[in-house]
Amino acid sequence: MSEPPHEARLRELRDKRAQALEPAGPGSNERQHKRGKRTARERIDALVDAGSFVELDMFAVHRTTAFGLDEREFLGDGVVTGRATVDGRQIFLFSQDFSVLGGSLGEVFAEKICKVMDLAVRTGSPMIGINDSGGARIQEGVVSLGGYAEIFWRNVQASGVIPQLSLIAGPCAGGAVYSPAITDFTLMVEGIAQMFITGPEIIKTVTGEEVTFEELGGALTHARKSGVTDLVAVDEDDMSAQTRRLLSFVPQNNLEDPPRFPCDDDPQRLCPELDELIPDSPNKPYDIKDAIVAVVDDGDFFEIGELYAPNIVIGFGRVDGSTVGIVANQPKFLAGVLDIASSIKAARFVRFCDAFNIPLLTFVDVPGFLPGTAQEFGGIIKHGAKLLYAYAEATVPKITVITRKAYGGAYDVMASKHIRADYNVAWPTAEIAVMGAAGAVKTIFRREIAEAADPETKAAELIADYEKRFANPFVAAKRGYVDDVIEAGRTRQVVSRALEMLRDKRVERPKRKHGNIPL
Ligand code: HXC
Repeated sequence: MSEPPHEARLRELRDKRAQALEPAGPGSNERQHKRGKRTARERIDALVDAGSFVELDMFAVHRTTAFGLDEREFLGDGVVTGRATVDGRQIFLFSQDFSVLGGSLGEVFAEKICKVMDLAVRTGSPMIGINDSGGARIQEGVVSLGGYAEIFWRNVQASGVIPQLSLIAGPCAGGAVYSPAITDFTLMVEGIAQMFITGPEIIKTVTGEEVTFEELGGALTHARKSGVTDLVAVDEDDMSAQTRRLLSFVPQNNLEDPPRFPCDDDPQRLCPELDELIPDSPNKPYDIKDAIVAVVDDGDFFEIGELYAPNIVIGFGRVDGSTVGIVANQPKFLAGVLDIASSIKAARFVRFCDAFNIPLLTFVDVPGFLPGTAQEFGGIIKHGAKLLYAYAEATVPKITVITRKAYGGAYDVMASKHIRADYNVAWPTAEIAVMGAAGAVKTIFRREIAEAADPETKAAELIADYEKRFANPFVAAKRGYVDDVIEAGRTRQVVSRALEMLRDKRVERPKRKHGNIPL
């Protein structure tokens, strides 16, 4: 007896679904495990709320017939796409399937990604891409280049509208790296992720350099040397955990505020340990993260870019349950100086926070910009200006705490009143001046010191006098450049009140196409 037609259809559907779960054929999921990696679907399951994933285009297949591809079929075309929730909040995502032609991107693969990106923008939901791919699908030629560019174009249109996250859990080579580069945050998994424009073999041919995949484009290389990745995960579990945590700090889109969490940590809590934080000697380092951790709710600080330009610290925390973006000079590294790398790192973070309605809390202890030909020839003028531009352009609430040094141009740049920070306070240990006392005295009293009977004593006297008169917060306070001088232990209280005061801040700007940030 023949099978009734509807049962045959049902069986076909079930067979196809089963086939789509292992589209490169039996054993291909196992081969991915042997590479030390999860499958595309396992990665989604590990990231999203159980049972929330709704897949799209499971049955999509390539259209190419070249290179024998007319005789092969991979359901889903090598990428799993869809919608899910994380902590109950909607996201859209794609997860590249390395088992299908090395996760390489062809026409249909790109169309699937574009479809979920469009849905993410239309519904105002974050977009997450899990990347594990050999790049452009060679068999599809220029069509795959077009597919990439369609994705890049969407990344740019979505920038500042919805948060975009790139998770790198395999190779990501050639022009494929430009989608992650445009997205807001990139996370790489140690040991299995690599990003590069050209691989070791081409590099050897062109420049003669010998370098391994890992040295060239591994997670730690990009976290420490290039700053291309913002986060490093030790394994895939850590990738999911960090992604969920990051999402908890950001809003769904640019029209919403970040989620507010009920908080047991009293916003009026005093932090007496901060009264002891600043060492007696102005040249002695301390860890600014101690101040950050003391001020945020439950000491919970999510640092971003920890290994890159550690002379500036950036990341998210909460005060009274609401997200704040924190930028802080770090006296523990290079005395907290601003250089090219730290300026770029902080500028991009400030712009993210501004785009997504996240108030900025800035801790200042900066001796100035880093001197030297490497910095000047590298364009510190232009790159330092990025941070200045980003702060000046930001219209979210801006709160600034000067803990110690705020010298020279760096004082202006670090969310000073003059570039429209809303509420600026200084600790009693603050020194707001054109430069440090020793440098200032050497410059303006060079002749007096040289002509003195005892130049050393004369210099010491002049330095002491300068310190007394200028190396303090009161010169600035007299002019209203800081709104208050506070005991360090009150910082959390002061910051939470300032945030409350600024909750409904609105700034109107003249209409323009866009500004021209010094890139
Ligand atoms: C088609 C590809 C592919 C690609 C890999 N495969 N890359 N198929 N197009 N780009 C296939 C392989 O043929 C192989 O198929 C399977 O994927 C697994 O690849 P392996 O080489 O066996 O894996 P592994 O040793 O882990 O090496 C992974 C790799 C390597 C480092 C990614 O495959 C590689 O170097 N691929 C080429 C990378 C590349 O040059 N891509 C183009 C970059 S240019 P079988 O059937 O044997 O399992 C580019 C331009 C983008 O992307 C421009 C955008 C603007």
